[in-house]
Amino acid sequence: MNTLVIGASGFLGAHVYQRLLDQGAHVHGTCGHHYRPGLQAIDLLDTQAMARYLKSLRPDVVIWCAKRTHESCEEQALNETGLCNLVRSVPDATRLIFVSTDGVLPGIGGPHGEEVRPSPFSSDSSIARYTNGKLWAERWLQTDSPLAHTTTIVRTGMVYGRAVSGEWDARTTTVLKAFASGETFSRADNLLRTFVHVEELASALCELASIDCIRGIVHAGPEHGDSHFSFAKAIARAWSLPMHLVRPHQIPPEDVREREVRLDTRLNTSFLRSKLATRFHCVDDRFALFARQA
Ligand SMILES: NC(=O)c1ccc[n+]([C@@H]2O[C@H](COP(=O)([O-])OP(=O)(O)OC[C@H]3O[C@@H](n4cnc5c(N)ncnc54)[C@H](OP(=O)(O)O)[C@@H]3O)[C@@H](O)[C@H]2O)c1
Repeated sequence: MNTLVIGASGFLGAHVYQRLLDQGAHVHGTCGHHYRPGLQAIDLLDTQAMARYLKSLRPDVVIWCAKRTHESCEEQALNETGLCNLVRSVPDATRLIFVSTDGVLPGIGGPHGEEVRPSPFSSDSSIARYTNGKLWAERWLQTDSPLAHTTTIVRTGMVYGRAVSGEWDARTTTVLKAFASGETFSRADNLLRTFVHVEELASALCELASIDCIRGIVHAGPEHGDSHFSFAKAIARAWSLPMHLVRPHQIPPEDVREREVRLDTRLNTSFLRSKLATRFHCVDDRFALFARQA
C-alpha cells in the first residue's frame, strides 16, 4: 500500500510519517517551508506541480495533516485550491483521511457526537477563518468530492505532546514556562476541550488507513475532555510542580458573545474508540507516563 502524508513536516504529520516508516510501510510525505530529509518539498497551492507529483506517485491512501501556517495562505484557499486539486489528481479509488477540527462544532452542549450539526463562525477573526475553511472542506469532501465514498474526516481537539524533534507543543510549553516563572497565572475553567496526545492520534490515523474505510466523520480522542485549567493542573500533578500557582478563571458571557468563543467543543469519541485498537489516554494518565519516563 502506497501512503502519502500531506504536511509530513508538521507536528502531527511528522509523527504519522515516522510511524508508517517504522512499520515498514511504503510511505511518502510532503513539506512546505520546513524541509526534512526524505520529504518532497512542494507548495500545495502549486496545482501543476502537485498534479505532476501525484500522477507519478498514484497513492492508495492520502492522510491530510496540513493546515494553514502563518507564512502561507488562508485555510479556505489551502482547501479550495490545494485539497480540491489533490482529490482531482489521484486515482478514483484512493482513500482520503482528512484531519479536521472540533472548532467546527457549536460551543455548548458537549461532548458532541458525529451527528451534531457544525456551525460556521460569523466573525472574521483568524480562528474563525481557519475553522470556516475546515468546515468548507468537510462539506465539499462529503458532497461534491469525487472521493466522497472513500473519505474519512477525523475531527480532533487540542493536540499535545512532543514533536518528533523532542520539543513540547506550544500549549504545554507555555504552561511549563508559567510554572517555572514562580508567578501565579490563570487558565479558563469553563473552556472545555478534548485534548488528544499527538502519538495516539498518529496511531489512530495509521490504523484507520489499514482497516476498511469508515466513510464520513469520526471524532478522535479520549473519553473525557478537560478544561484548560484542568490541563494545567495535570501538568503540575505529573511533575510535582507548585499547583497553587495556577488559578481558575471563567470566560465571561460578554466575551463569549463578542469574540464568538466556543466554550465547550468536547467530542464524543465512543464510535471511533469502538473501532480501533489504538488507546487514547486521558491527559492525567498521559502526563504521568511522561513524568515517569523523564
Ligand atoms: N494542533 C492542534 O491542536 C490541532 C487541533 C485540531 C485539528 N488539528 C489539525 O491537525 C492537522 C495537523 O495539525 P498540526 O498542528 O500538526 O499542523 P502544523 O504543525 O501547523 O503543520 C501544518 C503542515 O501543513 C504544511 N503546509 C501548510 N501550508 C502549506 C503549503 N501551502 N504547501 C505545502 N505545505 C503546507 C506545513 O508545511 P511546512 O511547515 O513545511 O511549511 C506543515 O507540514 C491539521 O489538519 C490541523 O488542522 C490540529
